Amino acid sequence: MSETTIQITGVKKIYDLGKAKVHALDGVDLKIYANDYVAIMGPSGSGKSTLMNMLGCLDTPSEGQYFFSGEDVAKMDDNELADIRNRRIGFVFQSFNLLPRATILRNVELPLVYAGIPKKIRAERARLALTQVGLGDRVEHRPNELSGGQRQRVAVARALVTEPSIILADEPTGNLDSKTGEEIMQLFERLYEKGHTIILVTHEEDIAQHARRLVRLRDGIVESDEPIPH
Ligand SMILES: Nc1ncnc2c1ncn2[C@@H]1O[C@H](COP(=O)(O)OP(=O)(O)O)[C@@H](O)[C@H]1O
Ligand SMILES: [Mg+2]
Repeated sequence: MSETTIQITGVKKIYDLGKAKVHALDGVDLKIYANDYVAIMGPSGSGKSTLMNMLGCLDTPSEGQYFFSGEDVAKMDDNELADIRNRRIGFVFQSFNLLPRATILRNVELPLVYAGIPKKIRAERARLALTQVGLGDRVEHRPNELSGGQRQRVAVARALVTEPSIILADEPTGNLDSKTGEEIMQLFERLYEKGHTIILVTHEEDIAQHARRLVRLRDGIVESDEPIPH
């Protein structure tokens, strides 16, 4: 068995809304191995985004434990957490989250700024990441000069530029037509083949079928966790 990169046990996330408590996650156990390719599905409100934010160290559990590469995340200091968020995990969101006024080169460079990489190296690596997603000839364009699919490819390049081993994507094809969505999935396939670990949230069955493992959430718990034969 390959090395475990992520393990969460008994994770709960409870939002206290005064009158009511929302159990967004209600006791989730999950192991993600190196070079796993996992699709997470479930009805709206089942806890998918909450789980992704937790896995990405953007949010902390109300209860339960999270081990990243065997280390207890709750015991990490701010520097260690920043290192995970800035270098070891890459995020792709449904809404792209690009800076509209900046060139796509600058957009892709930003995570390297946060990671403290020197300026000269930043531009080089951002160019390379954009070339990998087929946008090497567009680096001076701004997001509004690109199509939805191209913008999502910029978001993927931005997620990759720090060369994170783990890529978290929350509905990355949610705003794309099916043909463009397929192109993004081909990109994920290449990353998977290169050895990256991919965790992807989607509500589309045919998008999920690109993964090698399918986790279904319902009401904040894991309903099923099955391999996808290819
Ligand atoms: N910041 C928040 N405050 C209160 N409730 C929240 C918050 N974020 C999410 N929730 C609730 O937690 C549940 C799970 O939400 P979410 O993880 O976004 O689900 P999904 O991504 O599967 O649609 C939902 O009932 C949602 O309303
Ligand atoms: Mg969501």
